[in-house]
Amino acid sequence: MKNNKFYITTPIYYVNGDPHIGHAYTTIAADIIARFNRMLGKDTFLLTGSDEHGEKIMQAAAIDNMDPQAFVDKNSAKFEITWDNLNISNDNFIRTTSKNHKLAVQKSLQKLFDKGLIYKGEHNGLYCIGCEQYKTEKDLVDGLCSDHQKKPIEVKEDCYMFKLSVFRNIIKNKIETDELQIKPEDKKNEVLSFLNEGLKDISFSRKIKWGVELPWDTTQTAYVWPDAFLNYITGLDWNGEDKAPPMWPAEVQLMSKDIIRVHATIWIAILLGLELPLPKKLFVHGFFLVNGQKMSKSVGNVITPDDLLKNYGTDGTRYLLASATPFGHDGDISMDKFDLKYNADLANGIGNLVARSISLTKKMKDAGIKLSTNSFATNNSNQDTWGDQIFQHEIHSAWEDYKKNLDDLQLDLSIRVVQEQISFLDNYITTVKPWELIRDNNPKTGEVIYNILERIRHIALMMLPFIPETADKILSAISLDPEQEKQKGWETFTKWGGLLTDAEIKESAILFPRK
Ligand code: MSP
Repeated sequence: MKNNKFYITTPIYYVNGDPHIGHAYTTIAADIIARFNRMLGKDTFLLTGSDEHGEKIMQAAAIDNMDPQAFVDKNSAKFEITWDNLNISNDNFIRTTSKNHKLAVQKSLQKLFDKGLIYKGEHNGLYCIGCEQYKTEKDLVDGLCSDHQKKPIEVKEDCYMFKLSVFRNIIKNKIETDELQIKPEDKKNEVLSFLNEGLKDISFSRKIKWGVELPWDTTQTAYVWPDAFLNYITGLDWNGEDKAPPMWPAEVQLMSKDIIRVHATIWIAILLGLELPLPKKLFVHGFFLVNGQKMSKSVGNVITPDDLLKNYGTDGTRYLLASATPFGHDGDISMDKFDLKYNADLANGIGNLVARSISLTKKMKDAGIKLSTNSFATNNSNQDTWGDQIFQHEIHSAWEDYKKNLDDLQLDLSIRVVQEQISFLDNYITTVKPWELIRDNNPKTGEVIYNILERIRHIALMMLPFIPETADKILSAISLDPEQEKQKGWETFTKWGGLLTDAEIKESAILFPRK
């Protein structure tokens, strides 16, 4: 199983409020990558969840006049519902207030304490509650945290410190040699130059109530980050014992740039301290801006996943977010741009193509003509009026590009490959004019329509990780069972000719109504 496994994680999100589209973006991207790996036949596990401790949550609960546990129960449920509405295929949803997680955090911290990697000290410095991170003067812009536009608070308290500094060289080496990959390259360089400045020991505990109590000193609770990081293993039902579960380590840990530094340093150091294997790859995707501005409640430009779901449905939302910006880079979004893209790619693109092809098939059947592959399979002549000869070769190389892009997590590029297939088929239909072939009872008709529908099969399968419900509808319309298709295995379903010539072609409802 080891070689054929694929474990992917999203960050666990703070549940101090409702989910927003930044969270949805990471989660959808992880889901697409997980679904693609399941198509490849890998034993795949997708983990997401909620980060429920710390000062930020405690304050938000107090503002709502709620007990923190009731507050996180309510908000974490909202995240779960949103992921359901977005058809996220997560294999677990981990909550840091769950009993097993808390016990594993205690065992892990105890282990680090027993090894002398955690020691009693004093913390004296700046802390941004929004980030739940310690700040130095250098991190601030005009005295404010640049992510939250707030002045950090001054913290001076007895605490337990983690010997982060001792891990600097080993972490640096693992990143430099790509034993721990950080992608894209500019993020790797950023982390390396941060490491070059040296790593300081860091406080690992707070004197706040809402957290996991330290087993050796119950007057203190664990700093929210080590607590949170361990979700990546407790989410696999790990109970904090020595051996990690077989799914660990993660092949990919997905996140945005706001939290790569803490992952590449604190998280990796915890794993090294616990003598557990390191993740293979930390992948950093870009940040969304709305009309050029950071999304924020005070600016009033927050777009929620529900806003998108209401407008574009589950698959529409998945598609629009996944293709909104080059994956790995920052990007600007707006509702206007979403409308344009929805109409162009979904309503007029794949939706129209499928409707057009099915109605042609119906016309063909009404004229008493059947689907056929006969001359297509044997035709070696150069007089290839309908372009049949290049079909097989061309679709094969499209699958290769598609796979390469998804293996590299270039979601937008793999979508582009599918879009090219859609345009290609649209042009083919316009050029070949099958309605004239039907009218003239041309002997090539059955074959041309077969080519169109078989190409639709490939397009639906390529779209499956992105818009799974729509892909299922399209495959069902051409009499294929999506589950059975996947079970045939990648080598088989990506080959030309999977559509049966006696397939019953059913009309499907409009896939994407125009805006
Ligand atoms: N709880 C921590 C993570 C702990 S992981 C062990 C946290 N939570 S968060 O709710 O603030 O989520 C941060 C993550 O949400 C980002 O890394 C990114 O994945 C996603 N995004 C939040 N806003 C975003 C944008 N505007 N654009 C893109 N992704 C963003 O940090």
